[in-house]
Amino acid sequence: MRAVVRDRYGPVEGLRVATLERPVPDPGEVVVRVRAASLNMADLDHLLGRPRLARIGTGLVRPANRRVGVDVAGTVEEVGRDVTGLRPGDRVWADLFGNGHGALADRVCVPASALSPLPDAVSFDDAATAPHSGSLALQGLRAAGPIRPGERVLVNGAGGCVGPFAVQMAKARGAVVTAVDHGDKLDFLRDLGADEVIDYTREDVTRGDRRFDVVLDIADTRSVRLLRRALAPGGRYVLIARRIGSFAEKALLGPVVGGLTGTRMGVFSWRPNQRSDLAELAGLLAAGDVVPRIDRRYALDDAVEAFRRLESGAARGKVLVIP
Ligand SMILES: NC(=O)c1ccc[n+]([C@@H]2O[C@H](COP(=O)([O-])OP(=O)(O)OC[C@H]3O[C@@H](n4cnc5c(N)ncnc54)[C@H](OP(=O)(O)O)[C@@H]3O)[C@@H](O)[C@H]2O)c1
Repeated sequence: MRAVVRDRYGPVEGLRVATLERPVPDPGEVVVRVRAASLNMADLDHLLGRPRLARIGTGLVRPANRRVGVDVAGTVEEVGRDVTGLRPGDRVWADLFGNGHGALADRVCVPASALSPLPDAVSFDDAATAPHSGSLALQGLRAAGPIRPGERVLVNGAGGCVGPFAVQMAKARGAVVTAVDHGDKLDFLRDLGADEVIDYTREDVTRGDRRFDVVLDIADTRSVRLLRRALAPGGRYVLIARRIGSFAEKALLGPVVGGLTGTRMGVFSWRPNQRSDLAELAGLLAAGDVVPRIDRRYALDDAVEAFRRLESGAARGKVLVIP
């Protein structure tokens, strides 16, 4: 089989396609024939070994795991002993974060418990866009509590991997959505359904008169002090953290500032690859409430180019790798 691998932490140029032994599933494992995979910022962090603190778990000097890629959609090829409920040919999808990575390959062997059934109504390409970033958007919005029709929702950093899912999910719940990102992405954000779009290079949304009932902060560039000004009375702020320092600030200070100002501010505890989340995502995709945006498709051999596209910030939607 062929798989994208890395030998050390470092830039995307260190990736290569290797020919590996065809996997044989151990008891409880399943070999998945990969039909589509997509890239996330988490994959870039995985390659670069950042934050450095994470290397305590992933290998201090060299990465213990050479395989790459978390978002996968495909079909079951072979099941190991003791696997129930999955048969060859079944359509499946998963976020392999915490389950060995390895989506960038023609096959990947994973615990059966990592896989969720993929309904026929959702194509492999569409499915591959969503497990990681779609779940982050889903859990982030859920952490803000129920969104009522007409509530004003700000998605800060809306044009990356997670934001397009969050904008569409908030719209599907009847919210009035303001999406903030780079000026080059404003048309893309309008196309997602955002009611108002703001270019962060021209305007600081925390300094104007706008007040929001919900702020989903993906860009993670502002302090608690500034962010609370963007909240309406009773407003809820949720951070999808990018930086450890910011995570600590919002986790520790957020509840204090929230308590003093009649708002709710905090981070949420991310739980990757929840079956219930994937079932909810499948429903949203099948109903057309969330339409995955696919930027470009790359072959396995062009994985370096695919990662460069992700890294450049130029992608409008998810970057797919199709083995
Ligand atoms: N909380 C958790 O438990 C958890 C779990 C998993 C992952 N994560 C993290 O969650 C993040 C997910 O975000 P993502 O994948 O959507 O990232 P992304 O693809 O990098 O998107 C972030 C977007 O924010 C924009 N941006 C940059 N500066 C901004 C500013 N000042 N104001 C508004 N927008 C700005 C970026 O635009 P430019 O292109 O102009 O920079 C980009 O379009 C990742 O960093 C991941 O590491 C958190």
